[in-house]
Amino acid sequence: MAKNTYSSELCKELATTAGDPQLKIKHRPVRYENGTVLPIEITGVFPAVSGKAELTVDKFLGGGFAGQVYRCKLTALELPAPIPGLETGKLYAVKIVIPPSAFSRWFRNTTYWLAFQGPFSSQVNYGACRAGLLWQKLVRRAGMIQFGRETAVKDAYASFWDSNLNAYGEITEWVEGRMWNLEADDDITKRFDWKNVPLEETGSPEYVDKRRFMRGMVELMHDMGAPEFARQYEWSTMKSQPNCMKRTDTEDGGLCAIDFRAGLALLPWLPMSPGDFKLILNGLKRGALVQFDRCDLSKMEKFVAKHPDVFGDVQPMIDELKIRDREYRRSLPDITHHGLRPTFDKALKKEVVAGLVEGYLADDLVDEAFAEKLRKGGLTFSFFHLIGAIPLLGKMIRQRWGSKAFRQHMFGLFTKPAYFKMALKARAAHDLISWHRAGRTDEKRTRKLAEKPGVFFLEKFTLGRLPIGLHRLCLNPLIAWKGVAAFFKFIYDFAKDEAFREKWFLDQVAEGEKDGMLTKEEHDHIVSIIKEPFIVKYLKSMAVHFCTIPVTQIVSVTIGAIAAAYILSKGGTKGEASLAFAGIVALFQVTPISPGSLCRGFYVVGLMIYERNWRDYLVAAPLSFVKYIGYLAFPLQMTTTYPHLARFLVARRATSLVHIIPVFGEHGALLEHWVFDAFFNIPQILGRHLKGLLTGWMLLGMAVIIPALFAVTTKGWVGLMIALVAVFICPRMIFYPILSRSKK
Ligand SMILES: Nc1ncnc2c1ncn2[C@@H]1O[C@H](COP(=O)(O)OP(=O)(O)O)[C@@H](O)[C@H]1O
Ligand SMILES: [Mg+2]
Repeated sequence: MAKNTYSSELCKELATTAGDPQLKIKHRPVRYENGTVLPIEITGVFPAVSGKAELTVDKFLGGGFAGQVYRCKLTALELPAPIPGLETGKLYAVKIVIPPSAFSRWFRNTTYWLAFQGPFSSQVNYGACRAGLLWQKLVRRAGMIQFGRETAVKDAYASFWDSNLNAYGEITEWVEGRMWNLEADDDITKRFDWKNVPLEETGSPEYVDKRRFMRGMVELMHDMGAPEFARQYEWSTMKSQPNCMKRTDTEDGGLCAIDFRAGLALLPWLPMSPGDFKLILNGLKRGALVQFDRCDLSKMEKFVAKHPDVFGDVQPMIDELKIRDREYRRSLPDITHHGLRPTFDKALKKEVVAGLVEGYLADDLVDEAFAEKLRKGGLTFSFFHLIGAIPLLGKMIRQRWGSKAFRQHMFGLFTKPAYFKMALKARAAHDLISWHRAGRTDEKRTRKLAEKPGVFFLEKFTLGRLPIGLHRLCLNPLIAWKGVAAFFKFIYDFAKDEAFREKWFLDQVAEGEKDGMLTKEEHDHIVSIIKEPFIVKYLKSMAVHFCTIPVTQIVSVTIGAIAAAYILSKGGTKGEASLAFAGIVALFQVTPISPGSLCRGFYVVGLMIYERNWRDYLVAAPLSFVKYIGYLAFPLQMTTTYPHLARFLVARRATSLVHIIPVFGEHGALLEHWVFDAFFNIPQILGRHLKGLLTGWMLLGMAVIIPALFAVTTKGWVGLMIALVAVFICPRMIFYPILSRSKK
């Protein structure tokens, strides 16, 4: 509920307080609000001309481990010579190489430090920033060879330094497109042979096409001498899929590779996805213990020389790449490559020290004057570097030692009450931005706390430690009551009011179109059938579904309470009674059939009998009895009559569950597709074998339970028999005759 209802205006106001110019140090924003205007100095990727530009943030798209991504409009541009593709008024993808989340930042920097013992290069090092972009541009050209088109790789236009966030950024092509359609496929086995199957013969052409495209990207990058970059497109990492988009802005609608910046270094002892095992082994074969973005430039040059028609004019880029790549690699201690060389190679040592100092500057540990001292190396540097190893305290000592502004800030805090107050307010405002964005505090409360920083800090170190939901609940227990009341009101309205149901349905469909799950035509078609009897019935049965949600919980708690009371009355301990209670409630959550789902099942069976219509409920009826999946009963029933609607409803339900999972649950990642298969394609295939399955289920029950009958007492015997009949035999007895009716 609180999600996405935050006020961007308020965040901007707080950011002004947080960045009060009277303070000696400022709180850097973690990310920008939509509408922010950024004046920057840019340098083109090719040609590498420099000039002034202005970006206006149109939309914050999110951030993984590598950085934060925005859609921006280029609102001003002043260049000595044009950079092809860069024009004012157009939209661009802008990635600033620093993650908005503190945890992601820490995790990214730590893995990188373990791999290279230095700061995250593409954030702080000019060479690394440029090398990545130049590679992207070269791979884009090579797309002509591998895919016959340049649109297969998004274009890269310019790099810039963002002095608000202390990170390099890049301006690249904005690609209009989508991840993938979750396709209805009645024979998913065909796509197992994704390398060879003709696209028109499989029900999953888009999936197969993407898989081949990504394979093509990996091959291409290996041929070009960039095996580590290829990790961004390795299918088996299970999180690479969102790095490719299906374009809707080109005529061919081809796929496009959009992400060349990895976030996490690959450490041999820390594989983070199934595919990483293979990559680590391959890396070791090449002699690479840690992997990130190391390339073989001579291999690249050979590749370029082989295709003069495509790479006719790229020599300036290659020349720059060689220089930048060298600068970048020499800015890191990188033990697995440099070994102990920095200790005796003076020139290298100097560059490594300068590289580390870039990191201190980006972290605001030192000011420019102190940085200059550090760059000279020697004891000061060594000592400063070593202090970093002290947990927590290390940072505090370094800041006080390395930054004059920080010392003045500290002095102000201790000697000037007015300064102290201002600093407190700024800090509270800074933290409150994150609280408000995350939905921890609503607008009113955020404003109140911003005015009273003392109260804020008290709350921060107490309730603020709780998860968001609990935090809000503690402040306002009424929320829980309001939530329950709103839920029941929703059910009531939904059950009673046809217009309410229709509106709910239309909202879902509209959102589906917005998310790209439905095309405009599909959306319009679904809207046009909303009055058809089956849809009306579907919506009514949704009402029954909603009503049954509380049933299971009420029944389970009641039975649990009765059992607990019984145990207590027989002289059992409190512990035993609560154990029984918890056990019973838990049991109801995991059984596939529950009181709630039974209600729903009998409702659908009732409908069948009432209407004397078997065929329309053939699939829905048995599924309705099963918990969780029952929700999908009607959509699955609709597949033949309303295929788009059915696919959409299942896709939406199934994927909304998977998106809760971090990283792997991302929209467009492989897991999403698996879940869709599991909830849509596989049940469809099973549906065709339903009779056999019901018989199999019955036989399975008999095979398990009948031998057990010999081993139990009479009481147990009765229980087991009931279970056998109810769970295993009944489904077949009830549904088999229905399913056996010949289809008219
Ligand atoms: N050029 C672009 N055009 C359209 N969407 C983009 C573009 N760049 C990024 N996106 C969107 O932002 C998401 C994250 O961008 P990406 O560059 O993959 O960053 P990361 O994986 O590091 O978070 C993408 O999956 C895509 O949805
Ligand atoms: Mg990505």
